[in-house]
Amino acid sequence: MKRLPKGFLPPVTLDAAHAAPMYDQLSEWFRRAILDGRLRPGQRVPSTRSLAKELNISRVPVLSAYEQLYAEGYLQTFVGAGTCVARSIPVETKPVKPAQRESQRSLAPSAPRRIAQRVAGLRAPPQTWADNNGAFRVGLPAIDHFPTAAWSKLIHRHVRQPKLEHMIYGSPMGYLPLREAIAEYLGTVRAVRCDATQIIITTGSQQGLQVCAHALLEAKDRVWMEDPGYPGARQAFHTVDASIVPVPVDEEGLNVDEAVRLERHARVAYISPSHQFPLGVTMSAARRMQLLSWASRAGAWIIEDDYDSEFRFGGRPLASLQGMDTDDRVIYVGTFSKVMFPALRVGYIVVPKDLVTGFAAVRDAFDTFSSTLYQAALTDFIREGQFARHIRRMRAMYLERRVALLEGIAQHLDDKLEVVGTNAGMQLAALLPSGIDDVALSIKTAKLGISTRPLSICYAKPPKRGGVILGYSGASVAEIRDGVRKLRSCL
Ligand SMILES: Cc1ncc(COP(=O)(O)O)c(C=O)c1O
Repeated sequence: MKRLPKGFLPPVTLDAAHAAPMYDQLSEWFRRAILDGRLRPGQRVPSTRSLAKELNISRVPVLSAYEQLYAEGYLQTFVGAGTCVARSIPVETKPVKPAQRESQRSLAPSAPRRIAQRVAGLRAPPQTWADNNGAFRVGLPAIDHFPTAAWSKLIHRHVRQPKLEHMIYGSPMGYLPLREAIAEYLGTVRAVRCDATQIIITTGSQQGLQVCAHALLEAKDRVWMEDPGYPGARQAFHTVDASIVPVPVDEEGLNVDEAVRLERHARVAYISPSHQFPLGVTMSAARRMQLLSWASRAGAWIIEDDYDSEFRFGGRPLASLQGMDTDDRVIYVGTFSKVMFPALRVGYIVVPKDLVTGFAAVRDAFDTFSSTLYQAALTDFIREGQFARHIRRMRAMYLERRVALLEGIAQHLDDKLEVVGTNAGMQLAALLPSGIDDVALSIKTAKLGISTRPLSICYAKPPKRGGVILGYSGASVAEIRDGVRKLRSCL
């Protein structure tokens, strides 16, 4: 039998002045804890010796109480696992007290208990397509090709000889060597103009967006948001009760003229200019300039979400919008979720110098700081060249996978899917013929083990034409080919 971890000491209370003897009080406490579900079937309980020691009493009453509980079938001993709550006890044993039953009736089911209203707007409908990691799962890197051996070596390096600074509270700005490495990387590869003092490490770029929302917006402030756009950004703005202004996206990116027409006085514009999520278009130079000049005139802020720009497969590398900004209006948001793996939960924001203190205070208020161990290992991964090597390998692999998907679509789905966007990223968007419900389609494909994300969930209002977002980075060429056939069968 699997060895269970040592039992935690439960908060047993004994009353020396009570008329009931100690062993009786003890066995009654355990009976109640088991029936209330506080101690679960199979859960290990402390040994008689440690419980007696903890309660500062002789072992005799503890032994008597345990014996009684064995006899009544509440406890059981398993070889190698010690004494546990009997597995035969049903999980739902909780007896409902009469008073409790009464109050439950008065609440159920028509009167849900009150929590903040904004939660309703944050709750996404069930997303069955996200329950599987089959072909086309959006945001899934090629995890099986991640250099796990090199990464574990770096983690071990820091775990084996942990420095004091890795074990104690760190700065809300993040681990300085990592911020320096990121500043260098962004300057070289993305033409971002910054130094390490402007970089704040966040727990994923979702928290970066959250920090931006809290630092820049008051309730009811207007935010231009690409439509279709990234639902994660919409959620972040929703948490500060901002008012979202959906702005159409065309082949040049967010339509700035239309945005001004819709709401001239927005405080913030959220954009993903390198590879718009989800349509995949690249914002044109003219639109970038138009947007920067609007922000300057309006005294507004631009949040640039540069989530997967490492993967461009054709043409020259694109500079960031932040690098073109001469009025310090852009907050640049980046992440390691795509280039490393999403569970790392490390992202960053690049903040104009005069805003750093305010942004750091907001970031501190969220979760103080991100895990220093991962930040330190990541710094070495970048500094020792593994990061650049990994990106190069993944870029070649994702291109191969993208080509396989495009060929599959051309061969089997040409009459059904219209691919949009540029040659970049880890996923592509494809429009469906009008009249096809993309949510129903994604539910259907999920049943076959493939994960297509409906395009319509990225729109503020149901669009005229639905579509699918197909991730290709996390599936092999063979899985992509098989996925295309399955998708065809669903259509
Ligand atoms: C547009 C966009 N921004 C950011 C992210 C990454 O979020 P995080 O860094 O929180 O994992 C994603 C991931 O799907 C995304 O699509």
